Amino acid sequence: MHFPGSVRNLILVGFMGSGKSSVGREIARRWGFRFVDTDTTIRQKYRKSIPDIFASFGEPVFRDEENKALQDLQNSRHAVIATGGGIVLQPRNHPLLRSLGAVVWLTASEEVIWDRVSRNQNRPLLRTKDPRSTISHLMSTRYPLYGSVADITVETSGLTHQEVADRTVAALHVWLTDQNEDHP
Ligand code: S3P
Repeated sequence: MHFPGSVRNLILVGFMGSGKSSVGREIARRWGFRFVDTDTTIRQKYRKSIPDIFASFGEPVFRDEENKALQDLQNSRHAVIATGGGIVLQPRNHPLLRSLGAVVWLTASEEVIWDRVSRNQNRPLLRTKDPRSTISHLMSTRYPLYGSVADITVETSGLTHQEVADRTVAALHVWLTDQNEDHP
């Protein structure tokens, strides 16, 4: 399936470990779009890992950089944009995300997220005594935020990145058809 011409960019939001980067890269490859990852943009700017940025400058600086990264993308076209799991925390980011294009929320169950994120150490917010309950708490506060900013929701539990990419593209086509029917 080709990319829908009326979509300016595709933006992926969702919790850590929901597959935004892998799925985003796959969709960008299929469509011949540029792939942008706001975490990578910030890492490259600071030439540091995300845990090092948090440790050296603190979370507020990182959050400011996320906002700047979204502002810098405002003229972007034909990009698939993966965002950090906390991008929805700042209300000022919501209109920026929505103005970029179609916003897709990748969801997964808590068990699946835990299984995916417990394999690596590069998420500073999960370096707690009890990362499992940190996930639980963060999920409950963030899910309404993802829901309020997203046009489309795709459940990813138990699916490969290829399958999630297939479902995302299919859901996008359905959403666009509905949009065109509402606003012919
Ligand atoms: C964060 C998610 C991370 C990264 C940073 C903070 C969060 O990105 O931006 O560690 O607040 O959820 P991923 O969602 O790509 O893991």
